[in-house]
Amino acid sequence: MEQIVKDLIALTNFSDQDVQLLQQHAPKLQSWGGELVNEFYNTLYGYESTGKVFRDGEREAREKTLRDWYLHITNIDHVDAQFWQQQWIVGLVHITRGVTNPFMFGMTSRVQQFILRKCAEEFEPAQALQIYSAFKRLTDVIAGLIAESYFSSYVEAMEKVGGFKLTLIKRMIDLEINTKLKDSRK
Ligand code: HEM
Repeated sequence: MEQIVKDLIALTNFSDQDVQLLQQHAPKLQSWGGELVNEFYNTLYGYESTGKVFRDGEREAREKTLRDWYLHITNIDHVDAQFWQQQWIVGLVHITRGVTNPFMFGMTSRVQQFILRKCAEEFEPAQALQIYSAFKRLTDVIAGLIAESYFSSYVEAMEKVGGFKLTLIKRMIDLEINTKLKDSRK
C-alpha cells in the first residue's frame, strides 16, 4: 500500500496543507454533511444497479458510515499510514458487497461535484477554488486507493483460492491481453 499512496500523492500533488485547509473550514464543510449524505443515498437508491446492492432496512446505517467518513476526512490535521489504511479497507468491504469501482468512481464524482457547487455558492471565487482543489486532491487519492485495494485484493484472493502463483497469473494475463489487443486492432 505504501508505494501506491506515494504514487497517488506525487501525481495528484496532494499534501498535508490540503487537509489543513479543509480543517480550517471544517465548520462550514461539515454543515453540508447532511445534505451530501442525503443526495448520495438518494442517487444510489434511485438507480437500479446500485439500489440492488443494499439490504432491507440498511439505509440509516449506510448514511451513518458515509457521514462519519466525510466528517473524518474534513477534520484532520495530517494524514498518516493509519488514515490511508482505513481508506484501503473500504475497497475490501466493497468487494464483499458487490460495490464495483465504476459505482465508487461515479459517486466520488458526485461528491466532488456537490462540494464544488457548495464552495462556489458559499466562498469567494479564489477561496472556493483553493478549498475545492484541496478536497478534490484528497478524494482523488482516496478513490485511487479504494480502487487499487479492490483490484489487488481481488487478484490476491484469486491467487490464494485458486492456488496459483501471482507471477504465473501475471504472465498468462499479459498473453491473454495481448491477444485481445491484437484482435481489437485488426
Ligand atoms: C465516494 C465513494 C464511496 C466512499 C468514500 C465509500 C465509503 C465507505 C466506507 C467508509 C465504508 C465502511 C468501511 C468499513 O467498514 O471500514 C463503506 C462501506 C460500504 N459501502 Fe461504500 N463508499 C463509497 C461508495 C459506495 C457505493 C457507490 C456503494 C453502493 C453502490 C457503497 C456501498 C457500501 C456498502 C454496502 C458498504 C458495506 C457496509 C457493510 O456491510 O459493512 N459505497 N463505504
